[in-house]
Amino acid sequence: MSAISIERYLCVRCGQCTNVCPGHLIQRRSASEYPKIVEDAADICIRCHHCVAVCPVGALTVDGIGRNDCLEPDKFAIPRFEHIANLARMRRSIRNYADKPVDDRIIDQLLDVVRWAPSAKNGLPVKWVIVNNAGKVRELAGFVMNWVKKQAGLERILAAWNKGEDPIFRGAPCVIAAYTDKTAYWAPVDAAIAVETLDICAAAMRLGSCWAGFFVHAAQSAEQTAINKWLGLNDSETVQGGLMLGHIGDVAYQRIPCRPEPVKKWIRG
Ligand SMILES: Cc1cc2nc3c(=O)[nH]c(=O)nc-3n(C[C@H](O)[C@H](O)[C@H](O)COP(=O)(O)O)c2cc1C
Repeated sequence: MSAISIERYLCVRCGQCTNVCPGHLIQRRSASEYPKIVEDAADICIRCHHCVAVCPVGALTVDGIGRNDCLEPDKFAIPRFEHIANLARMRRSIRNYADKPVDDRIIDQLLDVVRWAPSAKNGLPVKWVIVNNAGKVRELAGFVMNWVKKQAGLERILAAWNKGEDPIFRGAPCVIAAYTDKTAYWAPVDAAIAVETLDICAAAMRLGSCWAGFFVHAAQSAEQTAINKWLGLNDSETVQGGLMLGHIGDVAYQRIPCRPEPVKKWIRG
């Protein structure tokens, strides 16, 4: 049976589903025809549900999922470019966190939104481990330090750790790890997009966040087995990204730091 089905009695032959299907699985030869689903659609369909989302009359379902399973967009709440530009410029990597836990419900709210981040072939490979306890974050930092100790050039990080500081997670009370199956298609890129979406959404909530690069390095190194075990991942899974999260501590940026102009090569006709 095909993944995609169209209720003919509802279809108004507008052709929108034909226009949006990325695999051209919904076809018609002329504007007067009802759209038809190609034979091997069930195998090829990436379940992006664009056809369901675009149909003006709700005539389509994919694997039984239809119009009533979709969210209604608030078309009037789309931020203006100036607002998005301001957020992109004002978002900072925060390395000072308040001694205050992050409510689980806020994290649920953020990760709920991140599921709409793009992923290659709509593969949606990214899963999450949420370490939402300052003591547990410190414990995880200890595993990362086992990696740091074996690296040349990270002596300052080691010295800071030995002084009781947290050079790994910067005192964040929460760390969110993005993980995937090791063999998942485009997994590192999909995870990076998901983590950055989380980062931006956290900034929009006035929370502090910062990419946790040392953690990811360690989690993909010889320390992987120990870190995976601690995080509850199995051998076929790997950490692909990590974000520190918390309420912003004693830091208040007064201006947007300079960044060089983009390097551009234009190709025009
Ligand atoms: C992949 C990646 C890994 C990073 N890892 C760390 C890290 O381990 N610790 C840290 O303090 N900052 C880390 N950062 C933050 C960068 O240092 C920061 O983005 C950069 O200095 C620019 O500052 P801004 O994000 O406030 O614009 C990382 C950023 C990225 C994109």
